[in-house]
Amino acid sequence: MSQETESIQKTRILKGKPVAAALHSEVAAGVDALIAAGARRPKLVAMLVGDNPASAVYVSSKTKACRDVGIDGETLDLPRDIEHARLMDHLGELNEDPGVDGILVQLPLPDHLPEREVLESVLPEKDVDGFHPHNVGGMWLDKPARRPADPPSVLTPATPTGIMELLHRSGIELSGKHAVIVGRSAIVGKPMAALLLREHCTVTLCHSRTRDLPSVCRLADILIAAVGRPAMIGPDHVSEGTVVIDVGINRVTDRALIEHLYPGKAKKLARFDSRGYAVVGDVDYTRVKPKASAITPVPGGVGPLTVAQLLVNTLRASRRRQGLDTEA
Ligand code: GUN
Repeated sequence: MSQETESIQKTRILKGKPVAAALHSEVAAGVDALIAAGARRPKLVAMLVGDNPASAVYVSSKTKACRDVGIDGETLDLPRDIEHARLMDHLGELNEDPGVDGILVQLPLPDHLPEREVLESVLPEKDVDGFHPHNVGGMWLDKPARRPADPPSVLTPATPTGIMELLHRSGIELSGKHAVIVGRSAIVGKPMAALLLREHCTVTLCHSRTRDLPSVCRLADILIAAVGRPAMIGPDHVSEGTVVIDVGINRVTDRALIEHLYPGKAKKLARFDSRGYAVVGDVDYTRVKPKASAITPVPGGVGPLTVAQLLVNTLRASRRRQGLDTEA
């Protein structure tokens, strides 16, 4: 293979950490500017119901990140068997507290609690997750962005909004491109479609009943995998030159699967053997990477952006609530 061909085929690895770090420092500077202007320090309260270990880890990383950038970050720990009415009382108090700018209800909630009703009870101006119908509606009704990276008019979900930052800051053109999203969740797939659409992508949203998924995926210039199934997107889903964004964070405990996904990667196996699991994305990274023009790794790709974007959202909410302009 000539050197030229080799360089043409080189895949860019889109790492989330540097973009997350940039967002963290921008938020820290924004908080400093707020304080210097005599405003109140932004505050986020994360509601954690029950003892789901993964949720506890996520929430503590969110509140720690808040503190790192000068945002007050608190967790409201509530028992797993809390009555719906009591939970609503707590939400009511947070809604009314003028010192609270952002409220986050960590999902999933225990089965006896009506998730939709709970999320709809968060005041839209404090809804830093962007899950309230006011914010969801605003996002879909937004005019197409005039300039790339124009922020949406409302608070939008952290993971897809963070992915938009990654795409912009990596210089990936969106206008006119075909984006194919696999997974129709309210947290990632659906808002991802809205955000890409307002930046002039042609969007296809696929799901478990999509017929001939590989051939639909092969139409993508930008392929976003958000299904929660380890390595389900393989090389037959990807055309040469596609930008591949992997949102999956799957814990795999099957050693044979890890051996298959990372052939010859002794370090991966050694880590698996010491921990008893490995984190795998929705994309078969080893086999897809050679076809992609750019790809996010797992871990270290999309993951760090979710928390970073939550900080951006909290600063936006606080600025807006304190009568300052909306942009962080
Ligand atoms: N559970 C999984 N992802 C999220 C998220 O982005 N926000 C909240 N609140 N819960 C989640």
